[in-house]
Amino acid sequence: MPSDNRRQFLRYLAASPLMPASFRSLDRIFQEPDLITAPEQALNVMDFEPVARKAIPPAHWAYLATGVDSDGNVLANREGFTRFALRPRRLRDVTAIDTSTKVLGVPWQTPIFLSPTSSGKAFHPEGELAVARAARVKGYHQVLSTVATCSVEEVTAARGAPIWFQLYPTDDWEVARAMVQRAERAGCPALVVTVDLQENSNRETQARGARIDSRPCDACHGGGDQYANRMRRKPMFTGLDLSRVTMLNPSGLTWESIKRIREMSRMKLILKGILTKEDAALAVRHGVDAIIVSNHGGRAEDANRSTIEALPEVIAGAGRMPVMIDGGFRRGTDVFKALALGAQAVGIGRPYLWGLGAFGQPGVEMVLELLSRELKTIMRQAGTRSIAEITRGFVIPRP
Ligand code: GLV
Repeated sequence: MPSDNRRQFLRYLAASPLMPASFRSLDRIFQEPDLITAPEQALNVMDFEPVARKAIPPAHWAYLATGVDSDGNVLANREGFTRFALRPRRLRDVTAIDTSTKVLGVPWQTPIFLSPTSSGKAFHPEGELAVARAARVKGYHQVLSTVATCSVEEVTAARGAPIWFQLYPTDDWEVARAMVQRAERAGCPALVVTVDLQENSNRETQARGARIDSRPCDACHGGGDQYANRMRRKPMFTGLDLSRVTMLNPSGLTWESIKRIREMSRMKLILKGILTKEDAALAVRHGVDAIIVSNHGGRAEDANRSTIEALPEVIAGAGRMPVMIDGGFRRGTDVFKALALGAQAVGIGRPYLWGLGAFGQPGVEMVLELLSRELKTIMRQAGTRSIAEITRGFVIPRP
């Protein structure tokens, strides 16, 4: 292909929704796909995305990649980081860098944690177990989704340390209570209630992917009554009576529901999906232990606002309540910016699923290794030896 045409074609591809998000994003724009063949070849976590895309069936890939509407908030989450610049300090002794921290009183090796993601076995046969084993090797805290494909008991054993359980309460309180109590019995010290998905969000990329997948979905997902069938296959619903359940996350979820969930266990209560100072203040008033600033990886609403841009106002509303964040984190510098703005911890989602889909456990390990490495590099560059030293003065909004 003559080089002008080739450039034009690449430009077309880069803008197309058919391309993995990283090729359309600021990280890779206009670059040709250069697929790695082993985890060690990866230069950054984005290198796993096209490999995972090749390995994962189209419908499952589209489920992983999708945002809502035009996927605007998936891109907005990435672009948000460009709205903040770093203010590195010089001539400090940064020979020893310590990334350890404490979250809700528990020591963690790194402030980066694994946000809950559903359907691990749709991306690799070992699913969340491979993720847990990698998290154990690399010392990352893990949060398990209600709709994971491995149980809270198995994943806790594979992680070798207590994990947090993410709750979709459904619209049957008895089902919610049973799952909460099961998570508590499995040793989870905290419950993460997702509050940003009321019934369904409009996932067009997911629907397009399903259309080009020739495999019969019903063979695995079952036909007929969708919700009950889909949930019956998820281990956290095993043995529960699902006859009254019609929704994973009820549209009627309110602050009253949060009180009710709080009373179901002695676990710490974390709300995931808070984006405003008003809701942060309400969380404080309702005795919530911590919140996660999140827009569900751009899968909630197409709001044209990144989580990193929402972080300062949420922190202002949260007072002393710990604030964590996820949404679009792909670089050590992204993590550093959030920590400098006051986040206590930073969740990642798609990057570890790219590692999983591409190479299984070794892929996840390498993703976690790269993020830890990049965080250490920017800590050293900025003159910060510990997480506590990463303070507001290290970041400045760009005009
Ligand atoms: C589940 O939480 C999803 O975003 O699909």
